Amino acid sequence: MTKNIKQVEVTETSIIYNLPDIKMLKDGLISNLKWPEDKSYLFFNLSAKDTRTKQPIKTIVSTDKYSCRLNYLSPKNRIHSFRAPEPLRTLKLQPFKSLEEIKKMTIWSHGKYFLARYKQYLSPNHAAETKKYLTNLKKVKSVAIIYKNKCAGMVSLMKIVHATSLPKPLHWVTWIWIDNKLPEDARRYAHSLVRSWLIKNSSKYIGASVNAVNIRSQKWFLKMGFRPVRVFFEKM
Ligand SMILES: CC(C)(COP(=O)(O)OP(=O)(O)OC[C@H]1O[C@@H](n2cnc3c(N)ncnc32)[C@H](O)[C@@H]1OP(=O)(O)O)[C@@H](O)C(=O)NCCC(=O)NCCS
Repeated sequence: MTKNIKQVEVTETSIIYNLPDIKMLKDGLISNLKWPEDKSYLFFNLSAKDTRTKQPIKTIVSTDKYSCRLNYLSPKNRIHSFRAPEPLRTLKLQPFKSLEEIKKMTIWSHGKYFLARYKQYLSPNHAAETKKYLTNLKKVKSVAIIYKNKCAGMVSLMKIVHATSLPKPLHWVTWIWIDNKLPEDARRYAHSLVRSWLIKNSSKYIGASVNAVNIRSQKWFLKMGFRPVRVFFEKM
């Protein structure tokens, strides 16, 4: 079963294989592959065929054994513009006033809109990852989505220097939240503003990590023109 799976790289934290077909991803495959104890992450580079999908990837690997995320990627010139939405006077992007405000809104929105929904699918390492991210916030560019004078979303980007087997120069969408209570026209307008902001503030490539169970987020990245390039696992 594992004979077609080629190991391509080992880094300090990860072991990386090429995966000929996403359909091969099953518990049995993972347990039969070499995954050294000291490597937190098991990565698979997806095949060209699988990176062309326009559907979210649903893996059938046990979520109680593994936490599974996808890396989505796009050259920024492939990020789609949609049918131009009507501009709304009630919605705009606005810089945060301070790093403290970015930190506060990141923690609050991540808790309410992400942890509350997906906590059971996150690895034990997630809290440490988040803590490390919050200590690095000064390296992040963030913008708030303001609707009717209240913060209804935010996007954050960080330049990635060390990224194995991904094209560079690369910026990473480290956090995105758009309030699901925004009416449809406001959400569509927010999407188009976020798209322009991402293009303006990133280098040639833009990537993101999305939990496999976060289908809404996968669909959003696909809709924007991103495609999945890697799938990776951590032990639960
Ligand atoms: C991810 C997020 C930024 C996407 O923005 P959004 O404004 O919700 O995007 P949309 O409403 O266009 O939804 C994206 C797609 O998912 C679909 N969708 C909506 N609810 C869904 C659900 N519960 N399950 C699956 N798909 C869903 C939408 O119909 C849409 O598809 P379509 O364009 O083909 O109609 C937003 O949902 C969010 O903030 N989520 C919480 C925080 C989070 O998970 N951030 C991402 C971390 S990687």
